[in-house]
Amino acid sequence: MPDEHAHSGQPSQGTTNLIPGVKHVIAVSSGKGGVGKSTVAANLACALSLTGAKVGLLDADLYGPNIPMMMGSTKGPEQKDGKILPVESYGVKLISMAFLVPEEAPLVWRGPMVHQYLQAFFRDVLWGDLDYLLIDLPPGTGDVQLSLSQMVPLAGAITVTTPQEVALYDVRKGMAMFQKVNVPLLGIVENMSYFVCGHCGERTEIFSYGGGERAAEKLGLPFLGRIPIDPAIREGGDSGHPIIVADPASPQAAAFRDIAQKLIAAMSGAGEGSPPIESLLKKIKQSFTNN
Ligand SMILES: Nc1ncnc2c1ncn2[C@@H]1O[C@H](COP(=O)(O)OP(=O)(O)OP(=O)(O)O)[C@@H](O)[C@H]1O
Ligand SMILES: [Mg+2]
Repeated sequence: MPDEHAHSGQPSQGTTNLIPGVKHVIAVSSGKGGVGKSTVAANLACALSLTGAKVGLLDADLYGPNIPMMMGSTKGPEQKDGKILPVESYGVKLISMAFLVPEEAPLVWRGPMVHQYLQAFFRDVLWGDLDYLLIDLPPGTGDVQLSLSQMVPLAGAITVTTPQEVALYDVRKGMAMFQKVNVPLLGIVENMSYFVCGHCGERTEIFSYGGGERAAEKLGLPFLGRIPIDPAIREGGDSGHPIIVADPASPQAAAFRDIAQKLIAAMSGAGEGSPPIESLLKKIKQSFTNN
């Protein structure tokens, strides 16, 4: 069960911080699967690293770990003094279950195992000093999310969504869970927001438009930005060259950089911050009854 006494950005009472050298731990979450969390996490990690910050990316999707593939790292981590050295790619330190189990192995974990593996990813990995550690979560609300919120002081969670209503319904559920375990909500990223035709330049809103921003408004949370749906972003993920490093001059890369800047601002205290828990829970409840 989540520690009722935990509060924003602080380790819960009686819990030792397993990663004292890390300044800001930011979870990348989503209500639904396949909305682009891992893509956003990989590109944001690279974008933050490109600003000169020290960045880590922990693939906490123990069931479907994609980060090594998306970051182009095939070689597993080395060990030092009985601890694991994170793999480095594009200047970002990475760890993932994909490094530790054979490719085809089914990943079926019970709750206590999830807790143990996650703990090992913090306690047994030599993260060193980091400005940001991004955590790529599995979709929805489950053991990983709950364990994580108990284990390390989270600076906050961002939520990735596609713009259509059915995805937004899940966003509100996910956000309500983070609020319940006292994790500050840093804002919403709308992915696969629109498509610009490479031939005629026409813009098509495949999953409708602006849903992420409307949800953010309704809940009183920052809207962090929208990313277009674009074959180059998908290719970047498949080939292990995130668009932000593969084509830094592209508008898609600029969209990710913009979100990274907003995160940096939020972490330095210049952002709007998260609204008080009671008011947010009330808004989430209202938004369900209004629809
Ligand atoms: N903006 C985008 N444009 C085009 N393709 C995208 C975009 N964002 C993500 N994709 C592609 O969509 C697929 C799903 O993305 P991704 O794996 O990042 O989602 P996810 O939310 O992490 O999924 P899961 O819930 O399974 O962890 C991938 O093939 C990815 O390359
Ligand atoms: Mg993923």
